[in-house]
Amino acid sequence: MSKIIKLAPSILSADFAHLGKQVHEAEQAGADRIHVDVMDGHFVPNISMGVPIVASLRRVTRLPLEIHMMVTDPAFFLDEFTEAGSDSFLVHWEGNNNLHRTVQRIKALGKRVGVGINPATPAVVLEEIVQDVDQVLVMTVNPGFGQQHFIHSTLPKVRRVRQMIDELRPGCDLEVDGGIDATTAPLVVDVGANVLVAGSAIFSAKESIAAAMERIRGAVESRNTHHEGREEHEEKTSFCPKRGKRIGIFLRVLRALRG
Ligand code: DX5
Ligand code: ZN
Repeated sequence: MSKIIKLAPSILSADFAHLGKQVHEAEQAGADRIHVDVMDGHFVPNISMGVPIVASLRRVTRLPLEIHMMVTDPAFFLDEFTEAGSDSFLVHWEGNNNLHRTVQRIKALGKRVGVGINPATPAVVLEEIVQDVDQVLVMTVNPGFGQQHFIHSTLPKVRRVRQMIDELRPGCDLEVDGGIDATTAPLVVDVGANVLVAGSAIFSAKESIAAAMERIRGAVESRNTHHEGREEHEEKTSFCPKRGKRIGIFLRVLRALRG
């Protein structure tokens, strides 16, 4: 796989007393975008940051600011985050009854849009929305906190999403978030991720931000892409459009019945 891998440092693990300096350091070290985790204490059991942080960051970096909306009603906050200087929004499939409308609103604001799915959510729910988005976010931990352990069972799903993107929306970014470090980065890249969010591995490392980012990049570049039995695994876990369509119809009927 010769895709260019992008790094998106998540400031959730940054030192907020020195946020501007740390983001500047990440920018100098070649970060591709800055990942801003917004939590409302309802969609996830934690609260984090909001519009003022984005407005402050906008003044100190030219990097795209990517807003990961872990909030119950993301559409409610889009205008303020846009005015503050956000460049893209990641909204979750979970709990979003009007996902298509939310996606269209973000596009109408002229911003990049991504849809995220939690570890227990199947890839197939993306099938009817992937053609409308610029990126897909596969959570590799349950959202809400930094420094959690990577959930290995999400790997086959990342591979299925990659196959779905290649088939239905070539060029769409496939981003992973949670537990990404020099050990797990090669694993997710091997199954098709091309944007890596990393918080604690970059901002809480004992080494400098630049060295931590270089460690992740180095691990990705030197990974062994020829795992034994990979083809067999691929066969068993591949995305099947027909099966996906049936499950998609089932999910829509289920939603309709729920009202
Ligand atoms: C978790 C957030 C992540 C978080 C990742 O809900 O969405 O972006 O900052 O942190 P690490 O990289 O420490 O797992
Ligand atoms: Zn995030």
